[in-house]
Amino acid sequence: MLDRRNFIKKTSIIGLSSLVYPSVSFASSLNTKGQKINIGLIGVGLRGRSSLDLLLKRDDVNVRAICDIDSSSIQSSKTLFEKYDKKQPNIFNQGEYAYQELLKQKNIDAVIISTPWRWHFKMAIDAMKEKKYVGMEVGGAASIQDCWDLVNTHEETGTHLFILENVCYRRDVMAVLNMVRQDLFGELVHLECGYQHDLRFVKFNDGETVYSPGAEFGDKALSEAKWRTQHSVDRNGDLYPTHGFGPVAQMLNINSGNQCDYLTSTASKSRGLHEYVVNQGGEDHPNTNVKFKLGDVVTTVIKTMNGETITLKHDTNLPRPYSLGFRVQGTNGIWMDINDSIFIEGKSQSHNWESDENYMKEYDHPLWKKYENLASGAGHGGMDWFLINAFVESVKNNVSPPLDVYDCATMRVITPLSENSIKNNGAPQKFPDFTKGKWRKRKNNFCINQDY
Ligand SMILES: NC(=O)c1ccc[n+]([C@@H]2O[C@H](COP(=O)([O-])OP(=O)(O)OC[C@H]3O[C@@H](n4cnc5c(N)ncnc54)[C@H](O)[C@@H]3O)[C@@H](O)[C@H]2O)c1
Repeated sequence: MLDRRNFIKKTSIIGLSSLVYPSVSFASSLNTKGQKINIGLIGVGLRGRSSLDLLLKRDDVNVRAICDIDSSSIQSSKTLFEKYDKKQPNIFNQGEYAYQELLKQKNIDAVIISTPWRWHFKMAIDAMKEKKYVGMEVGGAASIQDCWDLVNTHEETGTHLFILENVCYRRDVMAVLNMVRQDLFGELVHLECGYQHDLRFVKFNDGETVYSPGAEFGDKALSEAKWRTQHSVDRNGDLYPTHGFGPVAQMLNINSGNQCDYLTSTASKSRGLHEYVVNQGGEDHPNTNVKFKLGDVVTTVIKTMNGETITLKHDTNLPRPYSLGFRVQGTNGIWMDINDSIFIEGKSQSHNWESDENYMKEYDHPLWKKYENLASGAGHGGMDWFLINAFVESVKNNVSPPLDVYDCATMRVITPLSENSIKNNGAPQKFPDFTKGKWRKRKNNFCINQDY
């Protein structure tokens, strides 16, 4: 069996993506020799505009079109085009299906979808059918079938989809991935992660200012409170699995020599959102009558085919500092992000935590070393620059992305599987094999041997 270091060397000779993935044909003829690629954005709310800002700074991209149903999102986007002195885009804003007109434009090679979750799969499937290379924002799936439809459409059309999971590019996460690939932790045994983020100020606002104190959600509210909060009313499961699971899936080579086998999920009682509404809006506020189905802390345990366990938390309704709660543990040591600490047998003092600072420097990922100046100032500590850069380069090079449609389906299916498990008192739920057995032979190409 190849050890990881040899694997990296060997794959650099072979060239991974040419072996593993089919090529794709584009709507417009794409010239990789210096010609700019043409991108359309579907959904230009807060997240869409943060991607737009990064795209407008580049000289290898034309943002040709934007689509949104909200006039203030369109207006704020136009201001960004002015700021960067770029040609104004074509606007598609005539109703919820206006994006389909954008997709018909022959001069667009790729789209980025940053709409509310319920739209992602339909928009991505429609885009792949129109041969647009798809970048899809993160979130959970509504159903297992949605994930199959996504994979099947990719296979039928040959069009690629990049799940835009930015935490995979976080600097410490990539350094730890580097440590894993260099066997610092020995054989991996148990990993932890999650989305532990007090979102009460995101789920509610006063309807006038985003992130303001307030008890409104739905039509009376702004941005994510308009749509995201309803998921906490209707659903009980891990609603946002990708930020935690995406990075650990790379460390465990999920879909590339390893696979998720089954999960079990358990939800705590639901108290945080109701209490927040009472505190913000008073005892008589109409939203005090809303029953929130989502348990405040949802704990999911995943067992992989290679025998590792992953604990995934969804914790968004209670007061707490932000933490994705990463823990990477193997036969030779352990790293935890919560206190930036590490223990490596034979290196660290027995039974004592050590600061991870020196390890982070020593194992800093080569891409971060190379591009830190370009990334500095970009969203979420610079990782969003890496994400958008990887998207643009994947489109330009006309290849499968580092986080592909199979990764997307595996990450996002966690949501309906966890809902099913909770409904059935924690009963195990088998993961579908979206790769149809190909995971045994596929190779992990995430940030290996490529410049993005
Ligand atoms: N990766 C990250 O760090 C990160 C951060 C924030 C949000 N997100 C994700 O990005 C996505 C968008 O989140 P957001 O914060 O920008 O939300 P938002 O509510 O601010 O923006 C969503 C936009 O989509 C528009 N929209 C809704 N339906 C539409 C339709 N049918 N056609 C066209 N436009 C439509 C809305 O008008 C709005 O402008 C979500 O999936 C969210 O989970 C990711």
